[in-house]
Amino acid sequence: MSHAPAKPMSSRRTGALRGTASIPGDKSISHRALILGALAVGRTHVTGLLEGQDVLDTAKAMQAFGATVERLGPGEWIIDGVGVGGFAEPAGVIDCGNSGTGVRLIMGAMATTPITATFTGDVSLSRRPMRRITDPLSQFGAEITTRAGGLLPATIKGAQDPVPVRYQTPVASAQIKSAVLLAGLNAPGQTVVIEKEPTRDHSERMLVGFGATITTEETPEGRVITLTGRPELRGQAVAVPRDPSSAAFPVAAALIVPGSEIRVPGISRNPTRDGLYVTLAEMGADLIWENDREEGGEPVADLLVRHSRLKGVNVPAERAASMIDEFPILSVIATMAEGPTVMNGVAELRVKESDRIDAMAKGLRANGVEVEETRDSMTVHGTGRIPGGGEPVATHLDHRIAMSFLVAGLTADAEITVDDGAAIATSFPDFVGLMQGLGADLG
Ligand code: S3P
Repeated sequence: MSHAPAKPMSSRRTGALRGTASIPGDKSISHRALILGALAVGRTHVTGLLEGQDVLDTAKAMQAFGATVERLGPGEWIIDGVGVGGFAEPAGVIDCGNSGTGVRLIMGAMATTPITATFTGDVSLSRRPMRRITDPLSQFGAEITTRAGGLLPATIKGAQDPVPVRYQTPVASAQIKSAVLLAGLNAPGQTVVIEKEPTRDHSERMLVGFGATITTEETPEGRVITLTGRPELRGQAVAVPRDPSSAAFPVAAALIVPGSEIRVPGISRNPTRDGLYVTLAEMGADLIWENDREEGGEPVADLLVRHSRLKGVNVPAERAASMIDEFPILSVIATMAEGPTVMNGVAELRVKESDRIDAMAKGLRANGVEVEETRDSMTVHGTGRIPGGGEPVATHLDHRIAMSFLVAGLTADAEITVDDGAAIATSFPDFVGLMQGLGADLG
């Protein structure tokens, strides 16, 4: 439950940003590479793994469940897996730190193996809802106890004789979908997940890569994903592509700092992840995509981004899942556009590492920006200017809140300060170095 001491940080108006931003590995794909590597027979060799704290916590958890996990060099790791159903009972409590993806996917991965494990996390993770995971996992036959309200810590006694489930996700969430699919691996027969809105499909893509039989069908009910249980997963070579959610921060900075022009190689064009870039194009952003190709089983391209005159837009609710982690930084970009930007269907933001609607609204208002919010929407009134100079913004252990405000400060009239940037290390350990390399004045 420990976390780094608070680290106040600030940023100031800066000259034009220039250069190439080499973004670290994708967080979602890194978690999945470790977990599937641990559930496979034989050796998985991962390159480009994100070495953020969230992913390191998952690596440690996989060791606790009996896999051999070893770092060979920067981003290069090997996992010797134990096979589907082969997890051993961990000796200690599994601490997933700040990571909702880590804890939810790992709970799924062990829930159909007859072992018991207790999960915990930091203050932020201990406030986040887990019933969305424990409900479907109980249907497989797992016995689960949580703190009141379905909160961590949670203890899961994995099912002795798991039964496959057919589950419609109650909210658009790749974490729920993935937890159910991972549990389905060790249930006999077919496990089915139905989602109304498509969410990131990295689990499905990677499961196919590891040798599982999994199909996806578009139906009037939504997207129906069917996994055949008890496959023999085989260790793979996984090249983790760069994280489009991390790329969003330097991209945003280049868009809002006058005179900027940067290159960002290898950004995902996976349609379940590209909602921010669709929205930016609608706002009038100068984005040029080059060299479309495939990396690590994902469609990617290189992006050239220049400072742009932007206009406010209406972001439709159907797009929310494909840019769910990008709303904090979009709300900063929106301040520099002309007119309001309305973000619809974003209630899920209230249960991320922090209540992101509340955190962004408070921080932006403190820095002179007009914001309105409802339970599931946020409107930022763009004027092409951020006054800045507010009280330190409360980041609530949320990496994306911290990075968003540090980007905002690069074009604000007065300095912007955040109370704690330590959580940035969960997803983007070299954020400050990378931004400074482009010319940004922050730290
Ligand atoms: C993730 C799914 C999303 C996202 C998170 C990563 C994943 O969460 O916000 O950062 O890797 O599956 P939800 O599934 O809860 O929307």
